[in-house]
Amino acid sequence: MNSLFTPNRRRGKLIVVEGIDGSGKSTQISLLSQWLRSKGFAVAFSEWNSSPLVHDTTRRGKKKEMFTPTTFSLIHATDFADRTERYILPLIRAGAIVCADRYAYTAFARDVARGVDPQWVRNLYSFAIRPNVAFYFRTPLDVALGRILGGRNALKYYEAGMDLKISRDVEESFRVFQGRILAEYEGMAEEMGFHVIDATLSIEEQQRQMRAIVLKEIGRSLKSGVLKVPELEFNGKH
Ligand SMILES: Nc1ncnc2c1ncn2[C@@H]1O[C@H](COP(=O)(O)OP(=O)(O)O)[C@@H](O)[C@H]1O
Ligand SMILES: [Mg+2]
Repeated sequence: MNSLFTPNRRRGKLIVVEGIDGSGKSTQISLLSQWLRSKGFAVAFSEWNSSPLVHDTTRRGKKKEMFTPTTFSLIHATDFADRTERYILPLIRAGAIVCADRYAYTAFARDVARGVDPQWVRNLYSFAIRPNVAFYFRTPLDVALGRILGGRNALKYYEAGMDLKISRDVEESFRVFQGRILAEYEGMAEEMGFHVIDATLSIEEQQRQMRAIVLKEIGRSLKSGVLKVPELEFNGKH
């Protein structure tokens, strides 16, 4: 894979999913982690923007629309550093499989779509652990938008890229912003060694492909090395 990031020399593994909103990442990583759990592995989850450290600041900054592209990028990097040092790294050291719903590539795509310098944001995340497997869900913009706009009500200010003043129309702004993000992902796919999944396929077919890729990439570690959860605990009987 690429030379960005810190190599993972630990027993545990890191699997990440990337793609634009509505590409099916959460659906697929949830199925993948259930499968790995059913095989008895210790699996943990880490979601983008979920660190308690900057939670309140992020909420306040979003509510008052105070973020600039640079401060927004830095607060996400702080969130990411906190999750890396306090959660992801200790779990990987212990031998767990960490599944991340969005990873540093999300910052590379979104922050650059906001006008942040690509090299600057890559340097910012150089402490990140290199994933063992990184999936990218390739989705035409209209398919992803259809899934998102069909199932939800209001698009949020930053989510729609309203801070960029692309358009006063939220849906139009969202479309343009997501299009830019998509272009960034496409530009990164080869450089970053993404395993590209055609996200227009059925949920089952995508999951079948993902499991095959996981077995090919980390199958040996799954035979020995990766932490197994004791049966009792695994059944939820503590
Ligand atoms: N392969 C698929 N075909 C059709 N709809 C899908 C597919 N995968 C996911 N969806 C639906 O699309 C929506 C977005 O999926 P989700 O997994 O939340 O995407 P993301 O996490 O990438 O935003 C959900 O309503 C989900 O049920
Ligand atoms: Mg999601």
